[in-house]
Amino acid sequence: MTHTTSRAVYPGSFDPVTLGHLDIVRRASRLYGGLTVAVLRNTRKKPAFSAEQRRAMFEAAITAEGLTGIEVVHFEGLLCDFAHEIGAQVVIRGLRAISDFEYELQMAQMNRRLAPGLETVFLTPGEEVSFISSGLVREIAQLGGDVSSLVPACVAAELSRRYA
Ligand code: PNS
Repeated sequence: MTHTTSRAVYPGSFDPVTLGHLDIVRRASRLYGGLTVAVLRNTRKKPAFSAEQRRAMFEAAITAEGLTGIEVVHFEGLLCDFAHEIGAQVVIRGLRAISDFEYELQMAQMNRRLAPGLETVFLTPGEEVSFISSGLVREIAQLGGDVSSLVPACVAAELSRRYA
């Protein structure tokens, strides 16, 4: 069932996008009429890839998957302000395991305090990708391991260049 009237925003650092993130995008795009992937420009963590590289990789992965009607943009500042700007009523976040929950609950409640009309919806990725994280992917790539089953092909190529 698609709620065609609702626009959702899927925010994150995406440093880099993984097959887990892509799985969440696929699920969210089936639920919402409009979906914006919002790549945080200045993350607190020092990112391995620039905001434009992270955005471009996500866009390329979405195109390669044949998914349509999804925009991929940068954002900075408060997520709730950005959601308001683009008319999104829903924030999508992926929940992989209990360990994600505390941080996610705190963010969802904080965003609700800041913007009472903005709902956070948690989606769970398929179990075949639910153990993947960008941090582990970076570590494996840096140490010369094979990440081809963890990230889209364009990202695997970018990681090889980055850590060559
Ligand atoms: O992929 P991440 O790093 O877990 O994503 C975190 C993100 C980007 C969703 C969060 O840091 C965020 O929304 N940052 C924007 C600033 C903001 O709104 N902070 C208050 C959040 S409650």
